[in-house]
Amino acid sequence: MGYLLGIDIGTSGTKTLLCDDHGRIRATATVEYPCSHPKPLWSEQNPADWWRASVESVRQVLVRAKVKGRDVSGIGLSGQMHGAVMLDRSGRPLRPAILWNDQRTGAECAEITAKVGARRLIRLVSNPALTGFTAPKILWVRRHEPRLYERTRRVLLPKDYVRYRMSGVFATEVSDASGTLLLDVRKRRWCRPLLSTLEIDPVLLPECFESDEVSSTLSAAAAAEMGLAPGTPIVGGGGDQAAGALGNGIVRPGVISATLGTSGVVFAYADRVQTDALGRVHTFCHAVRGKWHVMGVMLSAGGAFQWYRNQLAEAERAEARVTGVDPYDVLTREAAAAPAGAEGLFFLPYLTGERTPHADPHAKGAWIGLTPRHTRAHLIRALMEGVTYGMRDSLEIIRGMKVPIAEIRVSGGGARSRFWRQMQADVYGRPVVTINASEGPAFGVALLAGVGAGAFRSIQEACDAAIRVTSSTRPNPRAVKTYNRNYPLFGKLYRSLREDFTALSAVAQ
Ligand code: XUL
Repeated sequence: MGYLLGIDIGTSGTKTLLCDDHGRIRATATVEYPCSHPKPLWSEQNPADWWRASVESVRQVLVRAKVKGRDVSGIGLSGQMHGAVMLDRSGRPLRPAILWNDQRTGAECAEITAKVGARRLIRLVSNPALTGFTAPKILWVRRHEPRLYERTRRVLLPKDYVRYRMSGVFATEVSDASGTLLLDVRKRRWCRPLLSTLEIDPVLLPECFESDEVSSTLSAAAAAEMGLAPGTPIVGGGGDQAAGALGNGIVRPGVISATLGTSGVVFAYADRVQTDALGRVHTFCHAVRGKWHVMGVMLSAGGAFQWYRNQLAEAERAEARVTGVDPYDVLTREAAAAPAGAEGLFFLPYLTGERTPHADPHAKGAWIGLTPRHTRAHLIRALMEGVTYGMRDSLEIIRGMKVPIAEIRVSGGGARSRFWRQMQADVYGRPVVTINASEGPAFGVALLAGVGAGAFRSIQEACDAAIRVTSSTRPNPRAVKTYNRNYPLFGKLYRSLREDFTALSAVAQ
């Protein structure tokens, strides 16, 4: 029997998954690393940590599954998107990687939009310039660290740096490349006219493959470090969202996913390129050959809940330690004590600025509407509702674009909780379903590796073999009514505060 490896270079850690060539999962391992925030709005990581975590997690899954490295027939790579890893002539990182949730590039985004024109930008690369994307980061480094920029020979995305360490090859694939703002998403190749307008030398960019194509093979040195066989094929893989969508079986029209992890993502499959004229959702190449997807991304979804757990939930964490349950379970139980709508308490979940639908790096988090009636239960419930309204924003835009929505598959931490699944069904006003696979991007790229290695004929065949629906949650009509009444106010509160949020950024320096 052959085995497949999926390696996902996430923001909090690298998760590696080993499955057999029928898609049955044999082992997973996660190795964590830190993220640094040297200045407000900044977010950076050390690429060497990704490599160390990839090596360790691969070794761990081989031991856990009792599988020999030579029996691995294909590797898929996934990772956090949009990051910029700048390499010198000998392939060494020149500075920490600038991550997807870094918000320093407001001026560069304005510069790109002014130079190219907002409409032309969407025509060329199907998306507007957003602070998290890679191209404005390249411009930021060029402006603020010119000497370092002069020494830059390559700019890679996070997973592609790990590919380089595994194979010595500079390569990427269409789904992750879509998030650089430098890919002609329609034609699935680098956008020469934009590169020339922005004066970015195309030589800096790696070769771009389809996601299931073999991009490179494992070098002898990397094979020895990882405990694998030299020459093992590495497929293109996918950005974490496209790869996660494969792991959720989002490979046909009508099936969409709502994933509540650190970020919150609503992801819809598209047979053709569909763009939002206002650029509020992203239009990227899918990791399915010749297909696309549209997606809305919230920057702090589960991240807002995690912030609450870390900063304000000392009592719940203590209770969780004593009773041996997950602190999030204690928190959701508490939230359930408050009624739907949290008696007029709202939470804006924009702790790290926001992408969809506001594209505003200065947006902030806030509870609004506090009265002495409100308890901790209301605070928690309002926070979860605010995050879920944010997800509905993406859903509404995608619905408005006439992308078919027949089934919503929920996943991520927010889908593990029955309470949050019910809240999602109620806020979206539709049933939500869960599936048997919950391993996300690492599983998606392991399946892609199976396509590259010849175990499956297509990614649809791989998903059909491995993925099925396991539960369905129907909306509760009373809660739907409450949420439909409150949802417009959620949007209005942000709009009323937009300018004040920008002023707050200035006084936070
Ligand atoms: C997608 C996005 C995030 C990151 C980190 O556009 O920014 O999902 O990929 O997970």
